[in-house]
Amino acid sequence: MSDHTSSQTDDPFDRRNFVKTSAAAIGITAMGVHPFAMPSYSNDDTIRVGLIGCGGRGTGAAVQALNARENVKLIAMADAFEDRLTQSFDTISGGEREDRRDLTAQIDVPMDRRFVGFDAYKEVLPLVDVVILTTPPGFRPIHFEAAIAANKQVFMEKPVATDAPGIRRVLATAEEAKRKKLNVVVGLQRHYQTIYRAWVDRIHKGAIGDVLGGRVYWNSSGVWVRERQPGQTEMEYQMRNWYYFNWLCGDHIVEQHIHNLDVANWVKLGTPIRAQGQGGRQVRTGPDHGEIFDHHFVEFEYEDGSRVLSQCRHIPDCMNRVSEGFHGTNGTAPRPGVILSRSGQMLFKHDDENDPNPYQVEHDELFAAINGGDYKYADAKRGVEATMTAILGRMATYSGQVVEWDEALNSELSLMPERFAWDAPPPVLPDEHGRYAVPTPGVTRAL
Ligand SMILES: NC(=O)c1ccc[n+]([C@@H]2O[C@H](COP(=O)([O-])OP(=O)(O)OC[C@H]3O[C@@H](n4cnc5c(N)ncnc54)[C@H](O)[C@@H]3O)[C@@H](O)[C@H]2O)c1
Repeated sequence: MSDHTSSQTDDPFDRRNFVKTSAAAIGITAMGVHPFAMPSYSNDDTIRVGLIGCGGRGTGAAVQALNARENVKLIAMADAFEDRLTQSFDTISGGEREDRRDLTAQIDVPMDRRFVGFDAYKEVLPLVDVVILTTPPGFRPIHFEAAIAANKQVFMEKPVATDAPGIRRVLATAEEAKRKKLNVVVGLQRHYQTIYRAWVDRIHKGAIGDVLGGRVYWNSSGVWVRERQPGQTEMEYQMRNWYYFNWLCGDHIVEQHIHNLDVANWVKLGTPIRAQGQGGRQVRTGPDHGEIFDHHFVEFEYEDGSRVLSQCRHIPDCMNRVSEGFHGTNGTAPRPGVILSRSGQMLFKHDDENDPNPYQVEHDELFAAINGGDYKYADAKRGVEATMTAILGRMATYSGQVVEWDEALNSELSLMPERFAWDAPPPVLPDEHGRYAVPTPGVTRAL
């Protein structure tokens, strides 16, 4: 067990330093003169964008990037699979898009700028100014590190890793991005959503007093399954059905519930010091469901002793709720956009009906900064904190133990394969019945 009362260390991964530097990251401080001053663009200059990970979210993010400014052009694409890339290209080009704006003039991705395979990202980077990283999260540390090394500005989706070694890699890259003044936006879109900005700002200004506790939820019926196809190698199967394998996804507590845990950290202006919880799989138990749980409940403890209780469930026909609420010494903030006094009187209510789409706002703000040659966004640290909080929760539910933040963050337990190739063995393999080992609380080690 680590000692949380000792003084701050020089270790950048120490939780207290972590919180301190992340607070600094909220308002980006001048880093001094640096050799990587980003250009500003005139309306006639093209901001060249590359898409890495051409699935549902990547396709949406690319369209949002193009809708942000007319001088943004999509000029290169990469995916592990050719069919996913082609489908994405067709959608972005207008086929099945919901918004009917004609983006033709902003799309220039000839066949020789469409790259396929595990190394496809390396081909895109030299060609572009900005990169959109939207693969499954297991690859994010690798892709983000390569993007910043190549001096690219970044939009990347959450989560930013699936294990602690990946987290540390992203954290180190986040520092490098700051040093180079490269804008990084992470797709934790509640930070770009008017209702959350207004609500959390009021909580920070003391609207409910000291925040004593919180409740955060991602209870839903679950997500897609991509069934095994004849002739697939195990690596291809897991890459297609990535949601159910932790090296790729991190479990749904990481992949989806991260959003709500991120709000808890935002409200608390910090990260938890420890967690304990329980979970398992009761309904989603088939061989198509890999190794992940279908429910988790976690108690996160923050440094001031306050607790955030977290639920996430992927089971149909149960109470669905995706939300957050907080309790303070002077009142409550029972759900986003609402603040009540201690006696229950409504102090604040935000109607979000006409608010802009936060997925679009992320790109509007990022590309406005890039266009102006401004350095405004350093979201990677926040992405690390939210992802690590979710990984901490997963460690707690898988092991059934109390898990300390510092121990979790410094864990050497890597989930990633040693080699990325279609014939390479993934880190988890099925038994003779096609089933994967599922974590067992009390037996599975957390770290
Ligand atoms: N912020 C949000 O609300 C939100 C919503 C949906 C998804 N996401 C995130 O976006 C990411 C992608 O999710 P999705 O729903 O688009 O999944 P998806 O399966 O639709 O797309 C992922 C794509 O990445 C490709 N890919 C996998 N490994 C790759 C590699 N090494 N190199 C290049 N391409 C690779 C896949 O072939 C696939 O086309 C995830 O991290 C997810 O959590 C965020």
